[in-house]
Amino acid sequence: MDTNNRKIYIETYGCQMNFSDSEIVGSILSTHEYTITDEINEADYILINTCAIRDNAEQRIRKRLRELKALQRKRPHLKIGVLGCMAERLKDALMEEEDNVSLVAGPDAYRSLPSLLKEVDSGHKAANVLLSEEETYGEIDPVRLGSNGISAFISIMRGCENFCAYCVVPYTRGRERSRDPKTIVDEARRLFEKGYKEVTLLGQNVNSYRWDESGTMVTFPQLISRVAEINPQLRVRYSTSHPKDLSDELIEAMATHDNICKCIHLPVQSGSNHMLKAMNRKYTVEWYMDRIEAIRRRMPDCAITTDVIAGFCGETEDDHLQTLELFRKVGYDYSFMFKYSMRPNTYAHKYLNDNVSEEEKTRRLEEIIKLQGELSLESYRRDVGKRFEVLVEGTSKRNKAQLFGRNSQNKVIVFDGEGHSKGEYITVEVTDCTSATLIGHIVK
Ligand code: 5AD
Ligand code: SF4
Repeated sequence: MDTNNRKIYIETYGCQMNFSDSEIVGSILSTHEYTITDEINEADYILINTCAIRDNAEQRIRKRLRELKALQRKRPHLKIGVLGCMAERLKDALMEEEDNVSLVAGPDAYRSLPSLLKEVDSGHKAANVLLSEEETYGEIDPVRLGSNGISAFISIMRGCENFCAYCVVPYTRGRERSRDPKTIVDEARRLFEKGYKEVTLLGQNVNSYRWDESGTMVTFPQLISRVAEINPQLRVRYSTSHPKDLSDELIEAMATHDNICKCIHLPVQSGSNHMLKAMNRKYTVEWYMDRIEAIRRRMPDCAITTDVIAGFCGETEDDHLQTLELFRKVGYDYSFMFKYSMRPNTYAHKYLNDNVSEEEKTRRLEEIIKLQGELSLESYRRDVGKRFEVLVEGTSKRNKAQLFGRNSQNKVIVFDGEGHSKGEYITVEVTDCTSATLIGHIVK
């Protein structure tokens, strides 16, 4: 077989960080003798970038690995590799459990992929799950996979050291480390020069970003300001920040730069102090509400979204009611809502009791989802009659004559867009909505 120009198909599951990592993998492999393909049937290797955050994420990947066996029967030389958090969590054991997997690489091992693939070519199985204290892939210019040419992710830090009791991330992504701000600003500038109009700065906890620049510390508010100052036509978003260190400086940086989008994702996890303590979240409901008020005071139009977990160890009905209460108080625009899923080796697994029944978790989650549905609808209804600057991302799937884009608050707006195209900023007045989309028309 021709060993030059082998084709690699990358399939990504999980969070934005994983999608960003896949672009780094794509870049590393295409500077060696590999080509990235978006046609799975042409691939010599399929690399699956995986998530381990909840058990159902891992089950989904195991199901996908079984499905891929059919493809391997048709094309016996096809090799499968598993990357990312599930690879890191299960290590070599994954290749024993899943007999069609021949390569395993953790999130800090992507530079070794070319040599791991060589080992696989010579008929061996290959693994590298070493975590690093320094790796940031800082100077690597990611290839943009499945990109709309308008928005891109930029990874600014890796790892997490918060050790929330339920969370596997500190074990799968290792120590927290920040990337050199020069490489971040350069990457953003290059994207803007190529026509991109929006970048999202990514990290598990962006507010912990720190870089010692010849004796002075560059913090996240300074970094995001530098990126925003590349050009007012470049929108800047970020994800995720931990409530314990959402600083006034960051709120100020957002308020003073029109192109830093007015949307903050602030995972609360629970509305009960008893649960927040058990989760090791390091803040109280009172602290969290103080941060919400600080955001609202300075940026009344800022959208606020969250993550929440229903049925964590020891959660009582009263704790759950407090979560619903907090949701009503904050009035989230949107949230990601999960049932607690015990993860091996976490603090909660070792020391706490996963004692809320599955039925109870389901009921509590459904109540939160129902409430969020009402809150989202209220939030979207409040926008009817308002005007927003929309960055156009493409034509609507349902109706080719319509365009869609997002406002600064990250809400999707659909409108008749004749004569306009992707990448333009357009002022749109909202005339109607659902609980997930705004509908409007161009203001002439
Ligand atoms: N079970 C359920 N949800 C979890 N999350 C993290 N770990 C777990 C778990 N073990 C959720 C948190 C986090 C989001 C990314 O995933 O809400 O903010
Ligand atoms: Fe997990 Fe907590 Fe780190 Fe988020 S901040 S990745 S929930 S340990």
